[in-house]
Amino acid sequence: MKCRICAGKAIIGLPQHNMALCAEHFDNWMLKRVSKAVDEFKMFSKKSNILVAVSGGKDSLALWDILVRLGYNASGLYINLGIEEDDYSDESEEFARSFAERVGRKLYIVDIEENHGMSIPEKAYTKRRKPCSACGVTKRYYMNKIARNESFDVIVTGHNLDDQAAALLGNVLYWKIDYLAKGAPYSPPIESGQFGKAKPLVFCTEKEDAVYCLLKGIPYIQKECPYSKGATSLRWKHILNEIEENSPGAKHAFYFDYVRNIDLFQAKEKEEELPPLTCEICGAPSWNYVCSFCRLWDLDKRGNLSCDMDQN
Ligand code: AMP
Ligand code: FES
Ligand code: ZN
Ligand code: ZN
Repeated sequence: MKCRICAGKAIIGLPQHNMALCAEHFDNWMLKRVSKAVDEFKMFSKKSNILVAVSGGKDSLALWDILVRLGYNASGLYINLGIEEDDYSDESEEFARSFAERVGRKLYIVDIEENHGMSIPEKAYTKRRKPCSACGVTKRYYMNKIARNESFDVIVTGHNLDDQAAALLGNVLYWKIDYLAKGAPYSPPIESGQFGKAKPLVFCTEKEDAVYCLLKGIPYIQKECPYSKGATSLRWKHILNEIEENSPGAKHAFYFDYVRNIDLFQAKEKEEELPPLTCEICGAPSWNYVCSFCRLWDLDKRGNLSCDMDQN
């Protein structure tokens, strides 16, 4: 395999682009893929104050590294969910912390057990919910809260093309129109003074993110969350990879042709775009009098919602 650009020894084949690249040109190419996403979807600018949600995994750390190298003003946020199996949360935090030190950027850390006296799996158990659903509500809440309190312009996450295409497949299969309205790589602020939400890795695959980390010597948590075993999203990813093997580029076409036509789904959802209420307890925009986060954590009006966080 030879590099398409310099004919040197290729380190990665990219059949969906009908090419292979050497280490140096793959590195350039990754930076260009992220720049392309940022520019094409008008995600943010060099003046933006960017909050990167980092899980300690390959995608979000690769993303943070690329944004720093491209000259963006990007701080990190790690949410410790208190998952003790496999030492998952504490180990992930360690990867996030040491990466923040390496790039010399600020890392906000929210510790769920410290803030609420209970970890995500414990809370999920008491509420008879799946850990992943309690986890999703809680992560979303704190990402929004830190972005609002610290005046960030945009929250970026490490969702890649595999994540986006798998979510799309699941939503199409069950025709979840409300979710189909929200699958774009960038959601602008709902109101002025608010923050947008961006996924600058949408042009990159999981494999490409892993190879990037390997090449740059970025250590990351290799194990999966113990609660993700058997998740339907993994099944959709597996199916899409099988399709991709026989039809290189299918994943890209599936997701980006949808993005091109997303207004078809958004038109249907337009009237309901803005949550009409404010949570009586925490003041966040909400569809109900009490938001899903405050219901999950049983925060009554006297309940003290602290939002302690460390800053590196
Ligand atoms: P996941 O939902 O686990 O596939 O993660 C998707 C993205 O959400 C990651 O790429 C991160 O940007 C962000 N994320 C996931 N877990 C955390 C966490 N514990 N703290 C901060 N951000 C996270
Ligand atoms: Fe949230 Fe696994 S990361 S339950
Ligand atoms: Zn080359
Ligand atoms: Zn609330």
